[in-house]
Amino acid sequence: MANDFLYSQPVKIWFGEGKIRELGEILKDTGASRCFLVCDRFLRPAAEKLMGEIPEICGIFSDIEENPQISGVREAALLIRSLGADSVAGMGGGSTMDTAKFAAAIACESEDALAYFRGVRKFPAKRLPMIAIPTTAGTGSEVTQVSVTSCGKEKKTINDPAFMPRAALVDPELTYSVPKRTTMNTGLDALAHALEGYWSRNHQPIPDLMAAEAVRLVLGNLERAWRDGNDREARRNMSMAALLGGLSFAVPKTAGCHACSYPLSEDYHLPHGEACAFTLSAFVRINADDRLEKLARDAGLSGTEELAERIDELKRIGGLRTRLSDLEDLDFDRLCRDCEAHPLMKNNPVEMTAGSLRKMFETLA
Ligand SMILES: NC(=O)c1ccc[n+]([C@@H]2O[C@H](COP(=O)([O-])OP(=O)(O)OC[C@H]3O[C@@H](n4cnc5c(N)ncnc54)[C@H](O)[C@@H]3O)[C@@H](O)[C@H]2O)c1
Ligand SMILES: [Fe+2]
Repeated sequence: MANDFLYSQPVKIWFGEGKIRELGEILKDTGASRCFLVCDRFLRPAAEKLMGEIPEICGIFSDIEENPQISGVREAALLIRSLGADSVAGMGGGSTMDTAKFAAAIACESEDALAYFRGVRKFPAKRLPMIAIPTTAGTGSEVTQVSVTSCGKEKKTINDPAFMPRAALVDPELTYSVPKRTTMNTGLDALAHALEGYWSRNHQPIPDLMAAEAVRLVLGNLERAWRDGNDREARRNMSMAALLGGLSFAVPKTAGCHACSYPLSEDYHLPHGEACAFTLSAFVRINADDRLEKLARDAGLSGTEELAERIDELKRIGGLRTRLSDLEDLDFDRLCRDCEAHPLMKNNPVEMTAGSLRKMFETLA
């Protein structure tokens, strides 16, 4: 007998090629009359053009690094307050959307961003509505209440309702300019979200369905989007896969691969998607069961082993790092310890100990 469940998804989603040209209407729909736009550096010219066309946009902040720092959140929140903005849009990859989400959550109070990062202060009840506009096809941050920020080397995932966007504007055309390597990294992040949401200990029937579709879409379109960034159909399907990937893990949360991605990013500087992909095929083999077998077959594969092989092939095609020998100054004991200690590891369906993690990493030697 299936378990009872509670599922809710509060984000209004606008999807389609050219949707960005409806941003003015979407801001009005969200009740925004003075919207502050946080954007990726690469998109600064596009953001300035939008500001010239849409009177509701009152300012722009684009000083955002990959693995965004809490200092960027602080700066954006100060600007939002000083301009009297009533809403925040985040246009960029996960780094930009997560900065915008955090800034929108704290802009109504004068407390410093670090107090929230450290968990010393609860997020205020009053916050600004946030509109998420992804320009990579990967994180799914447009539909999650997650924000990943760093203070120096310390990278922290905060999961709080304060971060839930009010609306998501998903325009696949915004992803056409994403370079090959980022296309592959982010696409594998989307695949990891779908697979981990699906095999998570907290998986649920509705996210399960979205996960299965996201897996099918990634397997059918990621290589195409990587080969030709202007392949409209492949880019559209990858934007959809990333969105569904976000919805797949938003409630059940991710598991072993994401747990391992933190030490791999913090200590060995792998971009987020590459860090998740590093252990993804290994976890497919570890977590293989009848449910996963069915998912792989529904995606057109012969089973879980072919799923793992296909992931390895995508990593090879994309030139991603795949072996421990690719990591500089490897401290193997510490890597295993840190992966085991990450809270998301508890969400993996197969219990992982320091010993079993050692064994897993040895298959990647
Ligand atoms: N909040 C969530 O639910 C969630 C989920 C997964 C990952 N994350 C976090 O998101 C971050 C990673 O986000 P990401 O993978 O989207 O990468 P990113 O935002 O760091 O961007 C990667 C690179 O791509 C460039 N870029 C972005 N859009 C572009 C475009 N349209 N054309 C050309 N270049 C473009 C950026 O300038 C940057 O150099 C990490 O910090 C990760 O931990 C968050
Ligand atoms: Fe991720």
